[in-house]
Amino acid sequence: MVGSVGNGLADLGAAVNGARGKGMGMEVGMGMGMLPGAAEAALAMEVEAAAGEEDGVESPGRREIVLGRNVHTASFAVKEPDADDEETGEREAAMASVLALYRKSLVERTKHHLGYPYNLDFDYGALGQLQHFSINNLGDPFIESNYGVHSRQFEVGVLDWFARLWELEKDEYWGYITNCGTEGNLHGILVGREVFPDGVLYASRESHYSVFKAARMYRMECVKVDTFISGEIDCEDFQRKLLLNKDKPAIINVNIGTTVKGAVDDLDLVIKTLEENGFKDRFYIHCDGALFGLMMPFVKKAPKVSFKKPIGSVSVSGHKFVGCPMPCGVQITRLEHINALSSNVEYLASRDATIMGSRNGHAPIFLWYTLNRKGYRGFQKEVQKCLRNAHYLKDRLREAGIGAMLNELSSTVVFERPKDEEFVRRWQLACEGSIAHVVVMPNVTIDKLDYFLNELREKRATWYQDGGMCQAPCIARDVGQDSCLCSLHKK
Ligand SMILES: Cc1ncc(COP(=O)(O)O)c(C=O)c1O
Repeated sequence: MVGSVGNGLADLGAAVNGARGKGMGMEVGMGMGMLPGAAEAALAMEVEAAAGEEDGVESPGRREIVLGRNVHTASFAVKEPDADDEETGEREAAMASVLALYRKSLVERTKHHLGYPYNLDFDYGALGQLQHFSINNLGDPFIESNYGVHSRQFEVGVLDWFARLWELEKDEYWGYITNCGTEGNLHGILVGREVFPDGVLYASRESHYSVFKAARMYRMECVKVDTFISGEIDCEDFQRKLLLNKDKPAIINVNIGTTVKGAVDDLDLVIKTLEENGFKDRFYIHCDGALFGLMMPFVKKAPKVSFKKPIGSVSVSGHKFVGCPMPCGVQITRLEHINALSSNVEYLASRDATIMGSRNGHAPIFLWYTLNRKGYRGFQKEVQKCLRNAHYLKDRLREAGIGAMLNELSSTVVFERPKDEEFVRRWQLACEGSIAHVVVMPNVTIDKLDYFLNELREKRATWYQDGGMCQAPCIARDVGQDSCLCSLHKK
């Protein structure tokens, strides 16, 4: 995976240093343990990656990864107050100027964001009044702890909404508001392992890295399954690999939207493959719906994620399609499974079944607020808009001679990686190898896409100048020949 995301902080640091008055301690180059002079250039490093294995069993490989800029040299140092600060008020003024500049950079970065699946369009002004409270839902959402400043009323309301969406009765589900989609995966796979302690974890190669992290954390045997060019799991390969481990139960991560291509694994075919190959009642399925878990229910023809099927858990990120100022997520599982991994904690007067201890009590309120405002119908409209706009982007890219792919159930448009890393950073594109993607979320309008497309077309004309002709790089290996528009594959 090539990561190259500038966040504008380095620029802001320079701006603040130029603008500041008396010492707020924003000295450039003050950071502890900083690499001298390392901030300017992107670091190219050899990083161990869990890729390159041929046999489906995880083994370390090496791949060059371009990391984003080191922001340490542009950090805002924390300095001890001067004795006269209160009288002069200079510290307050300097802090206010840092915050104002930071805010300005956020506005600019928000305007040029396209690569990550975050809906940046929301208004939670009504919740500003709650910022003065340290709201913490530590412990089990359904069992009040002795800490009274919590938001379990909201948390359980949100969980009920998701349990209904994924068709699990109120008295049969358990869940909680997580810190992010990663925590949902860590929890889902942990539940799977507690249900089947000797289970082997299967996940497609294109699963999110948190799935393989879970395997490392829990020291589970992990088998990577091949994918089609779309990014969807190849169930023939899944079957082959299952049959190599017939004696051990299977724990499977099913993607409801892969990270890079937005591919949706065929849940029904995964279940059929398991049942037809001797794994009936010996499998646990975790559905990673971080990306599209909340979009799929509103897409016609999409495979249904439902607890009426033999699945064990589903997770989704809250800050992605819903939109939320802080990362969060939702995890739902079957109540019967949770007893296997929970224990009572006297200190809390609650039960411990979550990954984290203290839990963000503000997040459930934000989710509750948006779910109430939009409802199922509101989300449905937004999903339709995202899919329409994603098609618009794919069609315009192809008209401009840029190879692009869009999976049928997805709003992730995959296209050639822009040649210039500066352009990648400006638009905060997520890249992998020779491809990049734009994830069309509700805040991505046609105007924004046109703005992006115009810039890309202009830049591209300079990158691939060859007697006035643009030459598209070949991306057939990543997206298939039909989606590639290089000189070899253009029809
Ligand atoms: C498929 C998938 N799963 C899990 C995650 C992790 O989600 P989070 O960033 O909320 O931890 C992502 C993030 O993009 C993802 O795409």
